[in-house]
Amino acid sequence: METQLQIKLARRPVGVPGDETWELERSAPRPPEDGEVQVEVLYLSIDPAMRGWLNDVRSYIRPVAIGEVMRAMGIGRVVASRAPGLEEGALVVGTMGWQQLATMKAEHLTPVSEALAPPTTWLGVLGLTGLTAWFGLLDIGRPEPGQTVLVSGAAGAVGSVVGQIARIKGCRAVGIAGGADKRAALLKDFGYDAAIDYKAGNLNEQIRGTCSEGIDVFFDNVGGPILDAALRRINRGARIVICGAISGYNAATPPPGPANYMSLLINRARMEGFVVFDYVDRYPEAIAEMAGWLADGRLTHREHIVEGLESAPEALRMLFAGANQGKMLVKVKV
Ligand SMILES: NC(=O)c1ccc[n+]([C@@H]2O[C@H](COP(=O)([O-])OP(=O)(O)OC[C@H]3O[C@@H](n4cnc5c(N)ncnc54)[C@H](OP(=O)(O)O)[C@@H]3O)[C@@H](O)[C@H]2O)c1
Repeated sequence: METQLQIKLARRPVGVPGDETWELERSAPRPPEDGEVQVEVLYLSIDPAMRGWLNDVRSYIRPVAIGEVMRAMGIGRVVASRAPGLEEGALVVGTMGWQQLATMKAEHLTPVSEALAPPTTWLGVLGLTGLTAWFGLLDIGRPEPGQTVLVSGAAGAVGSVVGQIARIKGCRAVGIAGGADKRAALLKDFGYDAAIDYKAGNLNEQIRGTCSEGIDVFFDNVGGPILDAALRRINRGARIVICGAISGYNAATPPPGPANYMSLLINRARMEGFVVFDYVDRYPEAIAEMAGWLADGRLTHREHIVEGLESAPEALRMLFAGANQGKMLVKVKV
């Protein structure tokens, strides 16, 4: 490839990132130096967190700089290597960015097995998405058999896995998603015991009806009014897992905090956030368990793949419109 396409951050967006946020650039790829490899990007992961990386604020990771290639996790194949131990042809995952060819230090890449799972799975259920579900639910949520686990964003990439793990661990899983089709998918495809369509209204009543014995674990991907409604129904000693708060990611000013937070005091409950990267040393443990569930058919997953690197900005917007049906991915090598 003589020239490659890269998508760079042109300006910081206000609200949902429009096309003016990005600059598409064609240039010659940089050849690898000692210790580096060149990777042909096959698929890129599109994640709600990317919206936060565009804001010039203090966070768990530095913001993407103006003029920098947009950060993104990807899976690709090594096409040139100057790093002993990582040979041409290896399938690797890492932070490749919105580009067709990534020249990176070999130590920043993780080789994965094609024999164990197809490439897209390594960005989804066996990648950060599945790991987020596994560590967030089991380490922070600590569900016990027979308990009720409520999940928001339940038809999404992380949420759909959380519900299934909760069921595998002997819990009753209740999911919240937007729209009748996604509600139906929660019950039919992802095995939730009960499901709520938050767009149908009466959220408090729907939660009361589906969580008649209260909520022991609330795995929250959404924040805002859904978090508030869940707090009203928590049991004594409940765990509220703050995985994400997508409802506020495009807000120009921080949304107000949860009005019902005193429910934590009344119920001696714990609300705790986490960042999946902190569990890097334990990834193999989670991957081994989830690969077993995939192999024996207990864990199912859905992918939403759009074609072409040029589609990445639109794919990101789709997350905030609820237009994705499963793990959002861009197929870069088409
Ligand atoms: N803590 C961590 O380390 C970590 C790691 C990865 C991801 N996360 C978080 O996990 C969450 C889910 O990520 P994902 O990759 O699995 O995305 P996803 O759930 O596959 O896609 C996003 C979904 O969010 C819902 N949504 C969007 N705007 C909403 C709004 N205003 N109100 C309610 N729901 C809204 C939509 O579903 P509906 O159609 O149902 O509305 C949409 O399909 C995000 O909050 C993300 O930031 C956290």
